[in-house]
Amino acid sequence: MLKKIILIQLALLFLCLTNCNSKPAALKAVYKKDFLIGNVINHVYMSGGHFDLLKKHFNTVTCENEMKPENLAPLSKSGEYKWQMADSMVNKMKENGIQVHGHTLIWHSQTRTWMTSGSPQEAKENMINHINTVLDHFRGKVVSWDVVNEAMADGITDPSDWKSCLRAESGWYKTLGPDYVELAFRTARQADPEIILYYNDYGLNDCNKAAAVRNMVKDINDRYKAEGNNRSLIDGIGMQGHYGLWLNVNDVRASLEMFKETGVEISITELDIESRLTNSREWGVNRNTVMPQEQAQQQAKLYAQLFRLFREYKDTIARVTFWGMDDKNSWKSIGNPCLFDGELNPKPAFFAVSNPDEY
Ligand code: XIL
Repeated sequence: MLKKIILIQLALLFLCLTNCNSKPAALKAVYKKDFLIGNVINHVYMSGGHFDLLKKHFNTVTCENEMKPENLAPLSKSGEYKWQMADSMVNKMKENGIQVHGHTLIWHSQTRTWMTSGSPQEAKENMINHINTVLDHFRGKVVSWDVVNEAMADGITDPSDWKSCLRAESGWYKTLGPDYVELAFRTARQADPEIILYYNDYGLNDCNKAAAVRNMVKDINDRYKAEGNNRSLIDGIGMQGHYGLWLNVNDVRASLEMFKETGVEISITELDIESRLTNSREWGVNRNTVMPQEQAQQQAKLYAQLFRLFREYKDTIARVTFWGMDDKNSWKSIGNPCLFDGELNPKPAFFAVSNPDEY
């Protein structure tokens, strides 16, 4: 009898092991001890195969557009805020135990012109009102926020004076000057002391842009602490990570090293790797193609290299979020940048991220 039970138990164990091996592992389980694994969400991702993949692989999300100022704030100053789209997503994530990162409060793009117009006093009030309104609304539901997005200019050559590196065409910069960045963070800290405040930007694999961000974070945080505060004002740096096959992973390493010096946490916030050799600004959904094997392999290798690097920095990296589930619905669909193809089949890139040491 005992023999029989042991045999049955062994058979069950064998079945379980072979079954487990044939199914791709959940990414959030693979990186459980390292960092959170996230993806972007939009209305397409809220049901069907997309939602199944989301639930299976990811433990944190960022709304692709729904929390940006142009989607929350009214068309004119006297109008009403619109919460419905973002709320339904946030509620669904809560029901499914998925954490939400907020994107984004203060940005030059996808914002309302009235917010940054008028006198400096008016723009300042608009900023303070917007941040207070949004953080108040999502209190307890959103754990961290990109407070300021993409404030640095492109093509920085001398990062020593970070204020001179700011994007001068930003409406916020035009009306309030370089101090708008710190004002945004101070306002957010006061509005909700519980949440983690991020500065988020793209192209941080460029050493000059990265140095400008490092200098800004250090300067703002040092002054904040000198006032007697026992914490940083900027809690985290978000490296967006919109890459392509052109990427040199050593540049990412150099920036991670640089950001580590500031003592704040780092997140990779919008990761995608276009299968193109040039850094293109062409974007839009539904332009995906069938990827040639060679490209798919190159892309997979690069994803694997990056994840091996991220693992080396797991003590500093809090979260790695992809900017798209599948090639068809990606904002850069033409470059087939995701882990899943347009039919939601896992690509070599997926297997590379699942097991980066094998690539
Ligand atoms: C993109 C979205 O993916 C698109 O749907 C939208 O049309 C434009 O914005 N940096 C950011 C993100 O911080 O908000 C951007 O998202 C991609 C670049």
